[in-house]
Amino acid sequence: MQKELENLRKEVMRDLKSISEAAHLEEVRIKYFGRKGELAQLMKKLKEVAEAEKPKLGALLNEVKQELESTFIDASQKLKGQDNPALKFDVALPDIKPELGHMHPVLQVQRELEDLFRSMGFMVLDGPELESEYYNFEALNIPKWHPARDTQDTFYVKGGEVDNKFLLRTHTSPMQVRALEKYGAPLRAVVPGRVFRYEATDASHENTFWQMEGLVVDKDISISHLIAVMKELLQGIFKREVEVRLRPGYFPFVEPGFELDIRCFICEGKGCSVCKQRGWVELLPCGLVHPHVLEAGGLDSKVYSGFAFGLGLSRLVMMKYKIDDIRLLLGGDLKFLQQF
Ligand code: FA5
Repeated sequence: MQKELENLRKEVMRDLKSISEAAHLEEVRIKYFGRKGELAQLMKKLKEVAEAEKPKLGALLNEVKQELESTFIDASQKLKGQDNPALKFDVALPDIKPELGHMHPVLQVQRELEDLFRSMGFMVLDGPELESEYYNFEALNIPKWHPARDTQDTFYVKGGEVDNKFLLRTHTSPMQVRALEKYGAPLRAVVPGRVFRYEATDASHENTFWQMEGLVVDKDISISHLIAVMKELLQGIFKREVEVRLRPGYFPFVEPGFELDIRCFICEGKGCSVCKQRGWVELLPCGLVHPHVLEAGGLDSKVYSGFAFGLGLSRLVMMKYKIDDIRLLLGGDLKFLQQF
């Protein structure tokens, strides 16, 4: 039996050396280590040897069995390493640094503005992108028949009631009424967020872009409060003198309403495709909150007044970083995004 064990050891070693793929390894396992394999047969034979021989042969059998099993495990691990390139690596190679993402330029500017407004006592609110017709239009004094609806066409979504469908919000202004309903007055809030419009795109128009709504409601709020906050906003973000112009603007939810334009940073006012050769970029429509909106928010418009603005955040980012085409912001080009 000792001879048989010696032969088995040699045989197993030879077979394991010649193995080159995992399927053969399985054959070897069954042949030698399986339930009816050669080692099991030798175990059976041990019962038949003379009692005096048993302890010595038993110990030898166990020793050979352990040795062969550990050689088998080594051989199978080596083979797995060959099959799986991930397990074969050169420890001397420099490590691969995982690529880290970073904040999108719009989000960077948004965060800067949030800090600025928090420092002036504003809350930062979030609102639904899928909005009801009521909050997007009606509550803002834009009934169904109103021509102002045509200037903000959008994507309608199935669902909702017949007269109150769901739509992708065209501006952040619906949050004016939602915020008043929830927090009442006095109120200071900004609402950054994505908005959507069904319109042809060009260097300064996207169908998906960012705005930041601002709303201040209290007793005795006037246009001077509005202008002071607008100045603080522009200086805080551009950190330099910004040439602005205020002109009348019409929005049914403010009265009076203004358009605040800034001198185009891309062409320094000479005229380009971003400012449509005008030298000025529409950035910050604003005005005093219309009594209809205050009432829709549950306030007495004879007691309270307020101002609101709708900052074109994507356009502000364009001006800050001199980006000459708004479509780059959502184009997904990493070469562009990695510059920020
Ligand atoms: C509005 O959306 C009003 N809700 C703003 C407002 C709020 C007025 C509160 C008064 C009080 P308007 O459609 O002009 O207004 O859009 C506001 C700003 O968003 C624009 O000045 C511009 O900077 C930006 N904007 C408008 N359309 C686009 C577009 N297609 N792509 C990129 N930016 C746009």
